[in-house]
Amino acid sequence: MAVNWSPASWREKPILQVPEYPDAKRLARYEAQLAGFPPLVFAGEARRLKAELAAVADGRAFLLQGGDCAESFAEHNADNIRDFFRVLLQMAVVLTFAGSLPVVKVGRIAGQFAKPRSAPTEKQGDQELPSYFGDIINEIAFDPEKRFPDPERMIKAYRQSAATLNLLRAFAQGGYANLEHVHRWTLSFVEDSPAGERYQELTERISETLAFMRACGISSEDTPKLRSTEFYTSHEALLLGYEEALTRIDSTTGEWYGTSGHFLWIGERTRQPENAHIEFCRGIKNPIGVKIGPTTEPDNLIRLIDILNPQNEAGRLTLITRFGADAIGDGLPRLIRKVQGEGRVVVWSSDPMHGNTVKAANGYKTRPFERVLSELESFMDIHEAEGSHAGGVHFEMTGQDVTECTGGRRKLREADLSSRYHTHCDPRLNADQALEMAFQIAEKLKNRRNLAVPEIPAMTGI
Ligand code: PEP
Ligand code: CO
Repeated sequence: MAVNWSPASWREKPILQVPEYPDAKRLARYEAQLAGFPPLVFAGEARRLKAELAAVADGRAFLLQGGDCAESFAEHNADNIRDFFRVLLQMAVVLTFAGSLPVVKVGRIAGQFAKPRSAPTEKQGDQELPSYFGDIINEIAFDPEKRFPDPERMIKAYRQSAATLNLLRAFAQGGYANLEHVHRWTLSFVEDSPAGERYQELTERISETLAFMRACGISSEDTPKLRSTEFYTSHEALLLGYEEALTRIDSTTGEWYGTSGHFLWIGERTRQPENAHIEFCRGIKNPIGVKIGPTTEPDNLIRLIDILNPQNEAGRLTLITRFGADAIGDGLPRLIRKVQGEGRVVVWSSDPMHGNTVKAANGYKTRPFERVLSELESFMDIHEAEGSHAGGVHFEMTGQDVTECTGGRRKLREADLSSRYHTHCDPRLNADQALEMAFQIAEKLKNRRNLAVPEIPAMTGI
């Protein structure tokens, strides 16, 4: 167990990005209520994810993580969850097929409510109010009453997370994710797009393979792996009072686990080694992530790894790099070399979204598809050149037909952004763009596979 750590030890450390609640007693009351609620996920599930991430770390699996920048109370409905789950499954199928690697599926969902902000306040005209910090903290409406942090919102976020997770578990385990339904997962607005058509072709090949397997006596009725899938949840561990209240001792191992989600990560703005967010995350046993941006120095990265993964446990730590398409070439190689040189085992994942945000001429925050793809391709090329594994990707995406990121095969223009710009925070890839992105990564994985020298199986005797 981590030395000198408790679920509350973060309270003694400097903290950034967590707003002061106006009424401390009211906050404590809601935190106590949360502490009595059931866990959302189980320690055993988090351990299983850690084992799967250990396979990602040494190149035997690929991590696909994605979802909304910020979940919202207003858009909580079954269709949104289903459409997101569908497109993530489609992406996973594309990646599995091309890369011949198992895909570890992790949603930014069922808890992704708290948002760090670049400015603590927002000004409109003469009025200055606290920034919107996500639905778990305050309300997006620019209104003095609504921008105050309200701790009761934590209860609502918890209940929404529980309902979302319940549906996701049903989709993953209850038959919806049956590989024999692979052709049915397409969303109607994606069907006739270039990515949709390519997906249809791929499903035909998969269906043929499944028919062959069925003829050989292997079908979804007797093979659970064909009729269900593992799906994990994740979010940024930003609102530490909420996270602390959901931190529990696992009765099997006697160790502390965060039970608000399977995988928790620390954001780029809150990863100072001496601060509260690192303190909290070092003591929980879940697999965790840290966002790593262009200001990261190799020595500081090792310091973070020392704190977060002192045992060098495979699967424990995912480094989610987010440099921007122009900066990754300078920034990433020296970090990889340092980590390799020090013999540290990590999962390397690419978040190609947060370093590529631009302001369109009409004022919309957007991300050009081509820049997102360019960072991803560089990420994969650099890892290949350094003899390291490009382990996974981290997208802000939705199953909806939104117009938030420009480009892609449908050539979304800046002038189109206003049509369906729905995000509560950062611009997301729409379903079509997300699927297209999966095909592009798949091409790269396929090349990597074709380049790999075939392994000669060990002679074990019969
Ligand atoms: C995010 O993932 O939404 C986010 C704020 O990312 P970062 O910490 O990398 O800026
Ligand atoms: Co974001």
